[in-house]
Amino acid sequence: MNTVVVGAQWGDEGKGKLIDFLSKDVDITVRYQGGNNAGHTVVVGTEEYIFHLLPSAILHSDKVCVIGNGVVVDPPALLSELKDLKKRGITVTPKQLKISGFCHVVMPYHRILDSLRESVRKNKIGTTGRGIGPCYADKVARCGIRMIDLLNPRILKSKLEDNLAEKNQIFKKGFGAKEFVFDEVYRDYLAYGRRIKPFIFDTAIYLNRAIDQKKSILFEGAQGTFLDIDFGTYPFVTSSNSIVGGVCPGSGVPPMKIDKAVAAVKAYTTRVGEGPFPTEFPTRLKDIVQKAGKEFGATTGRPRRCGWFDSVLVRYSLMINGISELAIMKLDVLDILENIKICTAYQYRGKTFKEFPMDFEVLCKAKPVYETLPGWKWPTKAVEEYSKLPGNARRYLERLEELLKVKIRYVSTGSKRHETIIRY
Ligand code: IMO
Ligand code: MG
Repeated sequence: MNTVVVGAQWGDEGKGKLIDFLSKDVDITVRYQGGNNAGHTVVVGTEEYIFHLLPSAILHSDKVCVIGNGVVVDPPALLSELKDLKKRGITVTPKQLKISGFCHVVMPYHRILDSLRESVRKNKIGTTGRGIGPCYADKVARCGIRMIDLLNPRILKSKLEDNLAEKNQIFKKGFGAKEFVFDEVYRDYLAYGRRIKPFIFDTAIYLNRAIDQKKSILFEGAQGTFLDIDFGTYPFVTSSNSIVGGVCPGSGVPPMKIDKAVAAVKAYTTRVGEGPFPTEFPTRLKDIVQKAGKEFGATTGRPRRCGWFDSVLVRYSLMINGISELAIMKLDVLDILENIKICTAYQYRGKTFKEFPMDFEVLCKAKPVYETLPGWKWPTKAVEEYSKLPGNARRYLERLEELLKVKIRYVSTGSKRHETIIRY
């Protein structure tokens, strides 16, 4: 069985916990897009781990983790993540971690370009500043450097020369910024290549052979559907296809080999960075939920914007991703609320929108139409059985199911592994 897990909103839905939980039953976990802009939190006992590039299943030492070709890899970030794990007693071996040689490399000039571009933009995206956008832009512009190139000094030299010739002009003339010195970058990235070499594989061959041998695979989406480059709230999105469809180009596994897609859906909505957010809370409620849900970015530490559950948005997401099961995350965060709202449509200039609007102006200015349900005001934290949830919490979940027309299989009631309800 090959399953994909994606985020249905704007990221930070709790994919890390869900993947860690589901990966105990699979052989291989694969990241297929994004880079170290992701921040996936896994809590084991009293220990908290935050993964950016490594698949969240890396804590299961008997499982294989793959970084597929669709991921952009920042070598020093990868090495520091491996080093941090080692300090905590976890040594990751090439048997356990396989990185595609086709992954594009986030270069230091990508990181600098990311922040320089943001600094001059009138409509700031609020990126994570990790160089993700410029790296994917080079991939599509066909001047990117791939992991495999770091292992071949001649190829790296020629590609880097071309890139620096162009980028240094941009730095000098466009931004009045410092130029990069070829020798330094070349030396550093060859050295990174030597250290990462044992982990580099043709992961498409590896994965397809594993499928032939009836091994099961879990694909771990990063970011969320509304950060997808095509279907997200463009241009306030990331630069990859974070939807289920991104699995195929991002891993080399054909669509017919994917059996099922599960969405991680937060019981409310959050967003980091700029861009439209129709159901965003007013300040007072935002402060309450932000605090209760510890809504601060796992990558940048920025406070996350918070709002009510938006069923218009999530319904669209479930359609695009072909979702057949839902995992509702962070239900316990809503324990403190008197009333809970669900957005069922948008209104703009006297018109009601039941579907996600394409026009950016509508999305930015529309007023949500809400349905209000009574809260439960009872601690659901760590509840592990559906029947033990308060009636109003069950009513809220069942109303979501009705609106979304997909079954809720998992409900998360805390960050620990066992704080999970499995309904069937
Ligand atoms: P996980 O996997 C939440 C957001 C950034 C910004 C936009 C573009 O933890 O859910 P980028 O650096 O990718 O060019 O930034 O995307 N963003 C995320 N928001 N969770 C993430 O990942 C995100 N990765 C990127 O805040 O608005
Ligand atoms: Mg995150």
